Amino acid sequence: MNFKTITVLLVFGLLLQSCMNISCVHSASSPSKEITVKVKMVDAKPVYCILKNNRLIIGESGLGFEIKGMGKIFDQYKLISAQTSGFDENWTQIWGENKNIRNHYTELALSLKSKENKKYGLDIIFKVYDDGVGFRYIVTGKEGDSLFVESENSEFNFIDEYTTWWIPNNYDSYELAYENTALNDVKAVNTPITMKSQNDGHHIAIHEANLTNYAEMTLEKTEKGLISVLVPWPDGIKVKATYPMITPWRTIQITDNAAGLVESNLILNLNEPNKLDDTSWITTGKYVGIWWGMHVNKNTWEQGPIHGATTENAKKYIDFASKHDITGLLIEGWNLGWEGWTTERNLNYTTPYDDIDYEEVARYGKSKGVNIIGHHETAANVLNYESQMEEAFQYLQKLGIPAVKTGYVGPINPEGQHHHGQYMVNHYRKVVEMGRKYKIMIVAHEPIKPTGLRRTYPHMMSREGAKGMEYNAWSSGNPPDHTVILPFTRLLGGPMDYTPGIFDLEFKYKPNFRVYTTLAKQLSYYINLYSPWQMAADLIENYEGHPAFEFIDLVKTSFDESRVLAAEVGDYLIIARRNGKEWFLGVTTDEHTRNFDINLDFLDNHKKYVAHIFCDAINTNWKDRPTEIEIRKYVVNNQNQLKAVVSPSGGMAIHFREYKAGNYPNIAEFNSTDSERMEAFKKVPVYKDYESAIAK
Ligand code: NOJ
Ligand code: CA
Repeated sequence: MNFKTITVLLVFGLLLQSCMNISCVHSASSPSKEITVKVKMVDAKPVYCILKNNRLIIGESGLGFEIKGMGKIFDQYKLISAQTSGFDENWTQIWGENKNIRNHYTELALSLKSKENKKYGLDIIFKVYDDGVGFRYIVTGKEGDSLFVESENSEFNFIDEYTTWWIPNNYDSYELAYENTALNDVKAVNTPITMKSQNDGHHIAIHEANLTNYAEMTLEKTEKGLISVLVPWPDGIKVKATYPMITPWRTIQITDNAAGLVESNLILNLNEPNKLDDTSWITTGKYVGIWWGMHVNKNTWEQGPIHGATTENAKKYIDFASKHDITGLLIEGWNLGWEGWTTERNLNYTTPYDDIDYEEVARYGKSKGVNIIGHHETAANVLNYESQMEEAFQYLQKLGIPAVKTGYVGPINPEGQHHHGQYMVNHYRKVVEMGRKYKIMIVAHEPIKPTGLRRTYPHMMSREGAKGMEYNAWSSGNPPDHTVILPFTRLLGGPMDYTPGIFDLEFKYKPNFRVYTTLAKQLSYYINLYSPWQMAADLIENYEGHPAFEFIDLVKTSFDESRVLAAEVGDYLIIARRNGKEWFLGVTTDEHTRNFDINLDFLDNHKKYVAHIFCDAINTNWKDRPTEIEIRKYVVNNQNQLKAVVSPSGGMAIHFREYKAGNYPNIAEFNSTDSERMEAFKKVPVYKDYESAIAK
C-alpha cells in the first residue's frame, strides 16, 4: 500500500527582490540532514553546490541553457521564488531487487524569470535525498511555441580528487571497455560515471532519470569538473521541444561507499509511478535461447544447412526448458531478411523462414509451459521497423508471445541520427508504448541507457547497453574486472541483459575465443548482475546433465529484498537477495584471489538453513582450469560466518533454504579447507593484463 505525506516545510515569499545579492543562499537538506543543496544567483545566473555532512562535495556549478535564436533571453535571470517542501512515500515494485521502496526527500523549487523578457523563464527543481540529489529544469515561454536547444550547461564541479570508472562518450554505443582513471584524465564520457574520493572514500555516480522526449546527456571534462553535452540531431540541434520543456533529472548519487551506490533507489524514485492499470501479464523468469550457437558459429541466423531457428531445434530447446522450469525461449533468426542483414537491412517481422513452423513452435512451447520470446532485430533501420511495428506486435500477440527482444545493430536509418539522440529516445519509447498496447514485455539490445523507466512502465524489463557476454564470442573479450565494474556503473541505471551462464568457457566450436572467468563466477552473475529476465545463455548441450546447472534451476529473478554485504568498484561484490523464505548469495571477484568472512546474519534468527554452495574448487582459475567447481551442502544458522575463498576471476553462488531434514555437515567443515585453498591460489599468477596471458 502506498503511503504518502506531503508537508510544506517552508515557503520563502513570492518576491525576493531584497534578496538578489550573492550572499543570499537558498538551501534544502535531505531528511537525515546528511546532504545539503545550496543555490544562489551569481551575475544573474543560478549556481548550486552540494555538501555532505557539512563538507563541500560539489563546488559552485552553473546551470542553464543556450536556446537557438533567443540571444540574451536565457542568459540573465531574476529569482522570483524559492520554496522547500518535504515528501515521504513508500511504494512497491511488482518485480525487482527490492519489493518496498521509500521515496523520502526534501524539495527545493526555484522559479526564475528572464531579465530580458519576462514571458520566458526557468524553473529548477532539486530533490535532496540521503543518498544524493536529482535536479531538473522546466524552461518556460509561450505555451506550445517551439524551442531548439543548442546546449544544456549543467556543471558538476568537484572539490576532491577522484578515481573514476567510465566508458567514452559515443553517441551510438555503450558497448565499450571501462576505463579507470583519475578524474583529471577524463575527457568525454557516457553516464553513469562513477567516482571514488581519494580523500574520504565517498562515492559519486552521475547519471540521469526519466529520459523522456530529450537527448541523452553525456559529460565532458572542464577545468573544474564535468559539464553536460547533449547528443545532437543531424542538424546540430540537441533538443526540439515546445514550451514548457521539462528535462530529465540530472542525478548525483553520493554515498559513503560503493555498496551504498548499488543499494540506492534514487533513480527509480525520480521516475513517475506505474502507469499501467493491469500488470497481471508482466512476469519475470529465466530463458534459454537459439542464440549462442550463432555467436560461436555453430549455427547461422539466416536459413541454410546450420540454421539455428528450425522447428526441430526449437522443440529441443523447449523440452530442455520445460524440464528445468525455464519459462522463456528466445529464437533469433526466425524471420525473413537475415541474409545480409547488416547491409540490406530489410528484416521482416511477420514472416517466418519456411524451415520453422513458428506458430506450431509457439503452441508446442505453451503446452509445455515455455513461452517464445520474439526477436525484432532492426539492424538500426528504424524506418523499416516503424513501418511494420504495429503489425509486428499484433503478430506477437496473435501467437501468444508475451515478450520481445529488440536490437539496433549498425548506423541509424534515417541517416545522421544517433542511437542516443532525441529522435531515437522517442523511437525506443514508441516501442515501449507498443508493448503496453499489445501487452508485450520488452528486452532491448543496443538500447538507450536505462534511466529508471521500469517504475513507470514495468513491462520495460531489461536491456543490454554495455559490453555483454557476446563480446567473449567474437572479440578480445571482457576482462576479469568488467563484471565487477558493471554493477557500480551501467547497472545503477537499471537491470542488464548480460546473458550469463556460459559453462563451456573455452568454446569447443570456436577455440580461438573464450570467456575469462571460472564457472562459479558465471553462477554469481545470476545474483550480482540483476535482470528480471535472466538468460541461461549457453548451448543446452553444455547444460545437459551438468551438476552446476542446479543453481540456475534454483535461482529466482525477482526479490523481496537485497543487501550488499561487501563491495569495491572494479574489485569484488557480494550481494544477498531474498525471495520469500529463500536467500541467494553471489560473490564475484576480479583477477585476484580473495577471501571473505561473510556473516550470515541476514538469515532468520532461530532457524536453520541448508546452504547449497557452488564455488571455485581448489586450484580452479580462469586461465587453465576454469570449469572446476565444488558443489556442497551444509547446515548453517545466522550466527555462522562463511569463510569464502574465490579464485582469480572466480566466484561463488549460494542458495539458502530452510532446513527440514537431512544429514548435512556443519559449515565449519567448509572453512577447514580455507588455508589449503589459499595456499593453492597463491600459486596462480594474477593476470592483470589478461589478453596477453592468452595464447591465441
Ligand atoms: C546484437 C545483440 O546484442 C545480440 O544479442 C544479437 O544476437 C545480435 N545483435 C543479433 O540480433
Ligand atoms: Ca549488443
